[in-house]
Amino acid sequence: MLADTLLKLSLLSFLAWRSTARFTSSRNFYPAAYPLAVRSPYLNAWIQSPKDTTTFGTSWPYHWDDKNVMGLAGYVRVDGTPFRWMGDNSLGNQTSLVSTEVTPTRSKFTILAGRVQLNVTFLSPIEPSDWVLQSLPFTYISIEVATTDGSPHNVQVYCDTSAEWVSGDRSKLARWNTTVSDDTTYHQATLFQQSSMSEINDVAEDSTMYFGMASSTSSSWKTGADEDVRKQFIRKGTLNNTMDTSFRAIQDHFVVFAHAVDLGNIIKSSSPTVWSLGLVRDPVSTFFVGVNSRTRSPYFLTHFNTVDDAVKSFIKGYKNAVKRADELDSKIMKDASAISNHYADLVALGARQTMAGIDITVPRGTDGKWNMSDVKAFMKDTGTSQRINPVEGLFSAFPAFLYLNSSLGGLLLDPLLEFQAYVGNRQFSAPDLGSYPRATGNPSNANNTALESTGNMLVMALAHAQLSGDGTLISRYYDLLKGWTDYLGAHTLHPQNQRSADGLDRSDQSNLAIKGIIGIAAMAKISKALNRESDYQTYSAKASNLSARWTKLATSGDHITSVYGDSQSRPLVYNLYADVLLRTNVVDSSIYSQQTRFYKTLTTTAQAFGLPYDDIAQEAQDFAKAPWTIFTAATVTQNETQGKLIDMVHARATFNGTRGDFPTTYRVSNGSVLVNSGQASPSQGAMFALLALSLPIQNMVAPPDAFSHAVQAAGLNGGTIAGAVIGTFGGIGLLALGFLLWWKRRKTLLQQESLKPIPFVPHMLYRQRAPDSVEMNLMYQNTPHRAVRGVLPADTSSDFSIPESEEPELTDLISHQPSQSVTNSNSTMHTTDTSQLRHEIATLRQHMNALQAHQEEIYFTSLPRHGTPPVIKP
Ligand SMILES: *[C@@H]1O[C@H](CO)[C@@H](O)[C@H](O)[C@H]1NC(C)=O
Ligand SMILES: *[C@@H]1O[C@H](CO)[C@@H](O)[C@H](O)[C@H]1NC(C)=O
Ligand SMILES: *[C@@H]1O[C@H](CO)[C@@H](O)[C@H](O)[C@H]1NC(C)=O
Ligand SMILES: *[C@@H]1O[C@H](CO)[C@@H](O)[C@H](O)[C@H]1NC(C)=O
Ligand SMILES: *[C@@H]1O[C@H](CO)[C@@H](O)[C@H](O)[C@H]1NC(C)=O
Ligand SMILES: *[C@@H]1O[C@H](CO)[C@@H](O)[C@H](O)[C@H]1NC(C)=O
Ligand SMILES: *[C@@H]1O[C@H](CO)[C@@H](O)[C@H](O)[C@H]1NC(C)=O
Ligand SMILES: *[C@@H]1O[C@H](CO)[C@@H](O)[C@H](O)[C@H]1NC(C)=O
Ligand SMILES: *[C@@H]1O[C@H](CO)[C@@H](O)[C@H](O)[C@H]1NC(C)=O
Ligand SMILES: *[C@@H]1O[C@H](CO)[C@@H](O)[C@H](O)[C@H]1NC(C)=O
Repeated sequence: MLADTLLKLSLLSFLAWRSTARFTSSRNFYPAAYPLAVRSPYLNAWIQSPKDTTTFGTSWPYHWDDKNVMGLAGYVRVDGTPFRWMGDNSLGNQTSLVSTEVTPTRSKFTILAGRVQLNVTFLSPIEPSDWVLQSLPFTYISIEVATTDGSPHNVQVYCDTSAEWVSGDRSKLARWNTTVSDDTTYHQATLFQQSSMSEINDVAEDSTMYFGMASSTSSSWKTGADEDVRKQFIRKGTLNNTMDTSFRAIQDHFVVFAHAVDLGNIIKSSSPTVWSLGLVRDPVSTFFVGVNSRTRSPYFLTHFNTVDDAVKSFIKGYKNAVKRADELDSKIMKDASAISNHYADLVALGARQTMAGIDITVPRGTDGKWNMSDVKAFMKDTGTSQRINPVEGLFSAFPAFLYLNSSLGGLLLDPLLEFQAYVGNRQFSAPDLGSYPRATGNPSNANNTALESTGNMLVMALAHAQLSGDGTLISRYYDLLKGWTDYLGAHTLHPQNQRSADGLDRSDQSNLAIKGIIGIAAMAKISKALNRESDYQTYSAKASNLSARWTKLATSGDHITSVYGDSQSRPLVYNLYADVLLRTNVVDSSIYSQQTRFYKTLTTTAQAFGLPYDDIAQEAQDFAKAPWTIFTAATVTQNETQGKLIDMVHARATFNGTRGDFPTTYRVSNGSVLVNSGQASPSQGAMFALLALSLPIQNMVAPPDAFSHAVQAAGLNGGTIAGAVIGTFGGIGLLALGFLLWWKRRKTLLQQESLKPIPFVPHMLYRQRAPDSVEMNLMYQNTPHRAVRGVLPADTSSDFSIPESEEPELTDLISHQPSQSVTNSNSTMHTTDTSQLRHEIATLRQHMNALQAHQEEIYFTSLPRHGTPPVIKP
């Protein structure tokens, strides 16, 4: 620690002494993209890590989809010389990036601008224990300044943003204004004509952007055309507090909203300069149950009368937000680095995108007041599909919610359970609630995702109850869960026509079968907790019986096979994670040690970016999935192999040779991703999988009204478990405890291992077609809820119909060469020499054919409307 600090200090003085700095990092962690403002599915901006440059002054932040620029420009004036610390334009001198650091809530950049050093911090708060604060879609950008030569210099700082946040169609008309008071100054911008609950190119069409700061005598502001505003600062170091009132298209002389602060002659800033950036939508979603279809507002509005109050409060709340973020960051980093430093990096990088995937919402009741007994959370399948509360995505993300505040897990499960109990037409769980942001329910009766979804729901229902101690959901929806369990009992041992979370659909998939079996074991625990003794007996016997049979069917030689009897297949049996998490112990401990030995062998021949999640199918054998690799790591009984699996995920997370906001899915050979490979996906909450294992099991308590309420809401015939005070799981047993000791955390020295050099072979596939093209999810091709990109369907609260979209076709494959010049937002495609291009196309075609043959889905996004191709930067 001390050595680290000393090293950094000497490095800094060395850099200060030299005028040209070389890029380095204090933590040796170089993600391909850093989260900047990542707080909701729509406030989700990242900056690509510039592989070959040492500045952020050559690129714009991008929306998570890597297509839409979200303009943020930053300048600093030092003794009259302007420097650009963020943004891709020609104004100001270059700065250099000295070091970066990623914590769960922050991306910190140390930047040199002439004789000053800037510490720029992007703080996207994670507020797990306060849902008012958690639901505020705002982030902080702060700057601290110190001179590098110890003498005072005259310094002014500046930041602006544009109206790009409020539409994916930059030809749309925007309007804006500025609100100045004694203590705060903020700009806001919105579309002239919002379209509620719709999005274009992944950007919401119904949001209002806020950009503000604390007012002071040294601060100034301005709105106007980008060039004018920036040049005024560059020339004068101050802005003249005027508003541009000629409302126009977002991209027509890009209107920017600027704030500047004159720090005067300083050696070191006494306090940071802080800007607040937010993107507010209201309503955020709808949830449909019977006649109770209600639009839902962000939870923070239960505390603030107006959004303006919330904005002011957020601006003024910086100091306390930093305190809370410090506490949370150090708790998470301490817990995670007890496992390994590489593991801590993964948790740090995955945290924000997970929490940004959810909205905590509340509707107004029939009395017009906020209905505080109807708080629900919704998750967007960001980076993968348009689905809302995707069950397999929740399953993957769940460890993060369990760790941060397990009650959040309940808020997310609640709408899925309520909807399905109400509709009551299926014996198994649906895969989602429809298309974000409308939770209208998934009407499909297709049963090909039944095992995956049903197993996941039972596992999550128990995980939530036993880690939060809140038995409300399991008692309220007991009958629903019981029906699902019976379905699993009848079908799970021999999955037929079933898709796994990975899109694999072979018969007799071991990994899918065991998830269903663990689901039954979870129900046994639920029954036990609710004193349903005979159900407990039935389900625990069933689970043990199936588990014993599964072991025979699925084992071949020294490992579990992908499908029964295929001894050549080598899957990561990540669904065993549920057995470990829940302490169901339905799978014999010998399986865990057997698999550990097997994975150990596999790691010796693994490719640069890890092990394929399965290798039974052509489409799977090239690809690693970060969440499933970490789940697997959490099931191994030997710390060295666990460390290796973690390092595999780390290798890609830290790889800056291909673009991508911490994607879930990538090629094991070169780390490259397809479009919609889980970029910025909340599914990366899976990074918390090892942390979730040490959470204590709670006494579960169900409120007296939980069940009777459900009886009314769901129209079920009631049982008599009202007022159940549920016992602990006395039977966890020493066996489990002893078993868990295998996981005992140890600090590893692995972070000191250097990475192997990895050839850079980027590819990105996409299809050129008209706007409003289709984007789909990775697994549920055959359900009507295939995501529709572009404007969402009109409110369908009275019927279930969601338009079918056309089948995507592969028409164009374009690859990019790394060493080409910088691509900016107006650029056209850079193509490489044709032979390489042809080769890549051929390879990709082959791959595509394989995918199609196996009905695996790959999705192609449209080009953005204004001719900007997805920008692929080295
Ligand atoms: C890219 O990653 C390599 C290590 O793999 C590192 O040396 C280099 O500094 C990184 N570049 C940036 C700009 O992060
Ligand atoms: C700023 O850039 C100009 C033009 O490239 C150069 O002449 C000047 O020396 C630079 N100033 C500083 C302080 O880096
Ligand atoms: C979880 O959030 C709720 C709601 O804000 C809060 O009451 C509870 O204390 C939190 N639990 C934890 C463990 O932080
Ligand atoms: C910038 O960050 C470094 C490293 O955390 C710290 O030592 C330094 O004091 C900071 N500078 C300012 C001006 O706060
Ligand atoms: C800015 O515009 C919003 C939306 O039209 C309005 O509610 C607000 O009062 C305006 N503020 C000022 C200072 O004009
Ligand atoms: C503010 O600056 C603009 C140039 O952007 C100029 O046209 C205008 O006259 C100035 N207004 C005042 C009050 O100084
Ligand atoms: C609040 O929500 C609960 C749960 O959905 C519902 O039973 C109740 O009727 C609602 N209250 C009002 C006043 O609308
Ligand atoms: C799925 O539905 C088909 C047709 O309705 C039926 O034949 C099959 O048994 C079902 N499979 C499962 C696992 O429910
Ligand atoms: C599982 O149950 C079936 C039917 O009750 C029985 O025939 C079989 O022997 C049991 N198998 C195991 C391994 O317990
Ligand atoms: C594994 O555990 C052993 C003994 O407890 C320890 O010496 C070793 O450093 C650990 N290795 C890793 C990679 O954590």
